[in-house]
Amino acid sequence: MKMSNHKVILPDSTIGILGGGQLGMMLALKARSMGYRVASLDPDADCPAASVSRPFLHFPFDSLAGASALAAVSDVITYEFENVSADLAKVLQEESYLPQGYELLYHTKNRIREKSALASAGVPVAPYRVVADTEDLLRAVEELGLPAVLKTADGGYDGKGQWVLRSAEDVAGIRLPLERDRQYVLEKFIPYVKELSIIVARNGAGEVRSFPVVENIHRNNILHMTVAPGVVDEQVAEAARQIALALARHFSLIGLLAIELFLLADGSLLVNELAPRPHNSGHYTLDACDCSQFEQHLRAVCGLPLCSTEINTPTVMVNVLGEHMEGLLASYSRLPPQWKVHLYGKRQIRAGRKMGHINMLGVEHAEAQELITRLGLWGEA
Ligand SMILES: Nc1ncnc2c1ncn2[C@@H]1O[C@H](COP(=O)(O)OP(=O)(O)OP(=O)(O)O)[C@@H](O)[C@H]1O
Ligand SMILES: [Mg+2]
Repeated sequence: MKMSNHKVILPDSTIGILGGGQLGMMLALKARSMGYRVASLDPDADCPAASVSRPFLHFPFDSLAGASALAAVSDVITYEFENVSADLAKVLQEESYLPQGYELLYHTKNRIREKSALASAGVPVAPYRVVADTEDLLRAVEELGLPAVLKTADGGYDGKGQWVLRSAEDVAGIRLPLERDRQYVLEKFIPYVKELSIIVARNGAGEVRSFPVVENIHRNNILHMTVAPGVVDEQVAEAARQIALALARHFSLIGLLAIELFLLADGSLLVNELAPRPHNSGHYTLDACDCSQFEQHLRAVCGLPLCSTEINTPTVMVNVLGEHMEGLLASYSRLPPQWKVHLYGKRQIRAGRKMGHINMLGVEHAEAQELITRLGLWGEA
């Protein structure tokens, strides 16, 4: 079983990617530059990875026929999409080669399983309760106190499926379950001083490397900026690395694992959530490091030695959402050349939709903020 994780996938082989969003597209572009062929599957024929994949398989994510078609053309399979069912994973594992396996995905795609996996790895999380109905909610609020955050157990992203409860009225306004058979967690609201993340990679030979810990600034629950490296005490950076290492070993990780963290006033860390794939907070690595998170992930799943995770220059990554596109294009010709603009080619521009990102090389947080303000790009002028 373990032996299969050492399989070496050579260039000219086909890497199959489940999901064709921006993460899939950036994986595909890197894979192609490394000499691999890329096949992707996505329900949206117009998705970012469609134009850089051959074949592009246009199937819903829950289609077993689609999974079979991807397996048939792929020497190795990875994913950017996390809501993979056990049945689908079985098809991928039996009909192709899925070095990342299904276990980690099974745990991370559901917040309840994720939190118990974190606890068994000995990693601290925010106090929480599992909640199925209104009665559970009232009991959980009594036990944890307010404010608290109610989250659906599966399917949430960018703050969707999430409610901050600050008062008894907020609690009274919620009747659970909102949908049949839904489960929830209620978490204590954490008065963090910073949000951090760290991305770790492990390959089948057991080699483990983590990128620097970074600071993430959210707006309306969507990642706005990543400051790399994060400005934190060395003990905090070391504690983040230890958590990353512990989780990589605990899960016998193959590929990447992104770990979102809350930094508390006393310098301690809590894990917020995990993503077993490239992460938005690692996009700075495309320009600031010798080896990007995408290359590192591909190297891990292809059984190659991991590369350096050193950062060459401080960098601020800022996300470009739908509402920023017009301003960005209007000032495009004035952007300094050390701002590396990445756009995902999404045709439909919607507010809150991630359209691209900019890596501002050689700047720290305050300077980045000032430059952005001066250009009036993100409406904070
Ligand atoms: N317990 C908490 N206390 C305080 N703030 C929280 C808590 N849980 C979440 N948040 C805030 O909401 C944001 C989104 O939460 P979380 O990462 O759990 O959800 P998500 O919708 O899965 O997001 P992602 O886009 O990262 O997948 C966090 O980055 C943080 O800013
Ligand atoms: Mg998150």
